[in-house]
Formats: sequence, C-alpha cells, structure tokens
Amino acid sequence: MEVNIGLLGCGTVGSGVVELVQKRSEMIARLTGLEPIITRVLVRDSHKSRPVVFKHEQLTTNASDILEDPEIRMVIETIGGIEPARTFILQALRAGKHVITANKDLIAEHGAEILDTAEQVGMDVYYEAAVGGAIPLIRPLKESLTANEITDLKGIINGTTNYILSKMTATGADFDEVLQEAQDLGYAESNPASDVDGLDSGRKLAILASIAFHAKVTLDDVDVTGIRTISATDVAYAHELGAVIKLLAEGTDRDGNLSLQVRPTLVLKDHPLAHVSDAFNALYVRGDAAGDLMFFGRGAGSLPTASAIVGDMIEVLRNLRMDTALRVRHLLLPHKRVRRGQG
Ligand code: NDP
Ligand code: HSE
Repeated sequence: MEVNIGLLGCGTVGSGVVELVQKRSEMIARLTGLEPIITRVLVRDSHKSRPVVFKHEQLTTNASDILEDPEIRMVIETIGGIEPARTFILQALRAGKHVITANKDLIAEHGAEILDTAEQVGMDVYYEAAVGGAIPLIRPLKESLTANEITDLKGIINGTTNYILSKMTATGADFDEVLQEAQDLGYAESNPASDVDGLDSGRKLAILASIAFHAKVTLDDVDVTGIRTISATDVAYAHELGAVIKLLAEGTDRDGNLSLQVRPTLVLKDHPLAHVSDAFNALYVRGDAAGDLMFFGRGAGSLPTASAIVGDMIEVLRNLRMDTALRVRHLLLPHKRVRRGQG
C-alpha cells in the first residue's frame, strides 16, 4: 500500500530526503509494508535548478496543494524558521497528517504548542533531525535513557561553527574566509548569524535540556556567547597552550537547579572533544544509572540530516501500519459472543 507524503521545502535537507527516500523505498516497503511516495513538494521558486529531478506536477508554490490534500498522510517540513513553518505544521496536524520536522528554531520556541496540538488531534510529530544532524539524540533521551536521572549534557552541537574553528585551527585562516565555505557546503542556516552567534547551539541545547531534565527550557534560559570575535591570533594562542577552541554547549541539573551555557571554550588537545572536527558533532550525556555516554557523528549536511528524517518517516510508517493492523484485527474479531443454546 502506498502512503502519500508532502515535502515542505526542498533545499539542502529536503533534496537529501528525496534522494534517500528514492534510494531506500523498496527496503522501507519491505520493513513497514508501506511504500512512501513523495507526491508534492512545496518550494518558493519552482523554476530553480535542483539536485533532484521532479515531474512538473510534483512541485508547487501553494502550500494548500499539500495541506488540503486528503490523500497526503504525512508532511515533512524542511523550510526552516518560524513562519510560515509553524502555521503549515499546525494546519497539517489539524488536517490529520503526521509531521516530521528538522526545524530546531520552531521546536525550541513553539515545541509545546506543536506537541500539544499533535496530542489533541492524535497525530505524531518527530524531530530527530533538529539536533545533531545524523546522530540519534532525541529518541535515546526520550526513550532508551528514560530510566535515568540525567545530570549533565556537554558537547559540540553546531556543525558550522565547528567547521569554522577546525579550519581556523588547521590552516590559520580567518573567520570570514571559512564561514563562506561552511555556507557553500550547506551546513549554515539561511541566516548564518544563528550559527556564528551561538543561537543555533542555544536552541538545540534548550531542546535537549527540556527532554533530558524534564523541564520547559527555551533559548532565553541559555547563556549564549558565539564565536564572532574569535580571531586567528586567539586560535594560535590556544595552540601554544596545548589546546583548541571549541564552541561548547553545556547543561547541568543539580537537584532541579539548571545551568545552561553555550560559549567558546579552551579544550586541551588530549580531550576527545578536541578531535571532533569539520561539521561533526559530539555530545556527552551523564545518567545516574547508565553512567557516561558519548554520541558522535555528522551534525549537518544534506544526507546526514536526511538520514534522521527518513528514520522518523519509517517510524511513522510503522505506526500507521500498526494502526491499520489493529483496525483490521478489530474488524475481524466477532463483536458478539456466540452463546451455546441451553438445551
Ligand atoms: P535551505 O535554505 O537549503 O532550504 C529551504 C527550502 O525551503 C528551499 O527549498 C526553499 O525554497 C523552501 N522555502 C523557504 N521558505 C519558503 C516559503 N515561505 N514557502 C515555500 N517554500 C519555502 O535550508 P536547509 O535545507 O539547509 O534547512 C532546512 C531546515 O533544516 C531548517 O530548519 C534547518 O535549520 C534544518 N537543518 C538543516 C541542516 C543542514 O545541514 N542544512 C541540518 C539539520 C537541520 P526554494 O528552494 O525555492 O528557495
Ligand atoms: N546550521 C546547523 C549546524 C545545521 O551548522 O549545525 C544543523 O542543525
């Protein structure tokens, strides 16, 4: 059975999703019993050249073609920013569509509204790609580690700034030269100030801390300093001290007192975080039962991010499959018990 999907946005991340769904559709059908078909794709400019090829009728600049199509059961949002993404997602949920998003700005700022709406209307919302690109972080914190009291989160959760700092360290280049490279590679946000000024890390830390510490954390609760003022000279001084500069995000929960910061930090060269280079991310998590865990992988980019989104998509398909199986079982079950006659 086919499941129609609407894709909102087809830039760096959206085109990775199309590529990966096309590549893995047979495997997904085997795993879930359902075949995902991206039937409509919303973009701003339908004449733009894209790395993936669409049939003419697939592209649209009118969101209603997706949000009001009753045949579309799932929406994947890769537009970014708050509006119109927020309105589209709420409209999709209210129209009975499951939602997957990579949008950390939106989840950090309006996560409660979106998750509450989803609960009210009985739809799923998944957002694994919003933090750490390909690295599974949301689901492990929400599910596998729930038996723990998590006390510490610490790591590198922005690919762009890590790419910039790594290149500055390796080549002695200046900040501005390397920022353009990170943008060309598709790592940076449409407004790269979000990355450079530490806000993207701050929003991601807010999302992680909300889940890990069972608290309502927003960007306003995070003390944020970016890397804009870090110069080639600072990087050279760090080197003389046997260290590198990394933009670290750190959250602690000490008996309910939360402390949350993002700031450029000197990391000694023999520390594992010093070896997290390019657009890679890494996160340490400390749980009272599990002890220390470290998550590591590609934190940005087209296919790494698509990997997380398509993983979420497969989860929604499994849920749909289970719902259908339960409904079919219910229909097959006799509604009344047959009583034997009493002689
Ligand atoms: P891009 O800028 O590359 O793509 C955005 C897409 O959305 C484009 O296709 C654009 O259309 C479309 N779009 C933008 N505004 C509108 C609008 N008002 N109406 C219709 N379509 C619109 O962004 P990314 O792919 O890099 O990022 C997308 C999301 O994923 C963001 O939330 C980002 O934070 C998140 N993310 C990004 C990662 C990355 O490595 N880049 C990693 C993890 C998450 P058009 O193509 O016509 O301009
Ligand atoms: N701009 C973000 C980063 C994309 O560089 O980490 C991944 O969330």
